[in-house]
Amino acid sequence: MHSDRILADKVAIVTGGGTGIGLAIARRLGVDGAAVVIASRDTDHLAAGARALQDDGVPVLTVTTDVRDPEQVDALVERAVAEFGRVDILVNNAAGNFICRAEELSPNGWNAVVEIVLNGSFYCARAVGRHLIERGSAGAIVSVLANYIWTGSVGTIHSAAAKAGVQSMTQTLGVEWAHHGIRVNAVAPGPVESPGAARQLWSTPDAVDRITQMVPLRRWAQPQEIAEVVAFLCSSRASYVVGETITVDGGAWLGRGTFDFLK
Ligand code: HXC
Repeated sequence: MHSDRILADKVAIVTGGGTGIGLAIARRLGVDGAAVVIASRDTDHLAAGARALQDDGVPVLTVTTDVRDPEQVDALVERAVAEFGRVDILVNNAAGNFICRAEELSPNGWNAVVEIVLNGSFYCARAVGRHLIERGSAGAIVSVLANYIWTGSVGTIHSAAAKAGVQSMTQTLGVEWAHHGIRVNAVAPGPVESPGAARQLWSTPDAVDRITQMVPLRRWAQPQEIAEVVAFLCSSRASYVVGETITVDGGAWLGRGTFDFLK
């Protein structure tokens, strides 16, 4: 992995940073120079993520956190500050998802996903935003969404609604906190090769083939391809980008025009 150390001396929190896209983001930010705090409910995920980051020579702290609990989120930021002295970057990556038709979805199922994705992203942004504002420091917050924020998607009403809510929050906070030097942005991936998501969302080869056919690039993203765009948004290279959501989906959601069958 190349590095120009553009994030040297920065401290980043990545929620859900022990596996999948979150770990790829943690590694990218770490190789670019940041100290990284990974947060997850799952201590096994944290241990595996910490080993990967240590192998890259990245300073790492793990904090067991359920982002649905605002007290745990506040404690996460306090631990990060105690360990590394500051927090500059937050990546809201933690998510919950499963395929379920709306008429079958229980209130608890709806709440589980909305609490992780929408409430959790707000609690984390609030805690890091307060820290940055109190310290009078610039910072960056990036949320990992999904390309179905633009379209909705059958079977994921909870996730699509929650992530669209985070996209709206990204615009609001982008404007509300810009004068503090805090840039708030998001990425919206399409299908990404990630074992955790595969278990929840696309367990059959037929589903994988059908999804691949919907992507104009005719392949799935590697987690690193999402991490590159997150790292860009976290860095000074994106110093004038505010409240934006960058779709990183190989053209998938655009490829829905009437004559796109000709492609
Ligand atoms: C229907 C389900 C269900 C399923 C859970 N529930 N799984 N309903 N179909 N497959 C219901 C349960 O029955 C329960 O409701 C409620 O949801 C809460 O379930 P718990 O298991 O008690 O919740 P919890 O242990 O908190 O787990 C949260 C979770 C779980 C969201 C349900 O899946 C999780 O922890 N996921 C984290 C990992 C993950 O999902 N990663 C994929 C992210 S990919 P009742 O009524 O029975 O009490 C992503 C982007 C995809 O987000 C982008 C694609 C393009």
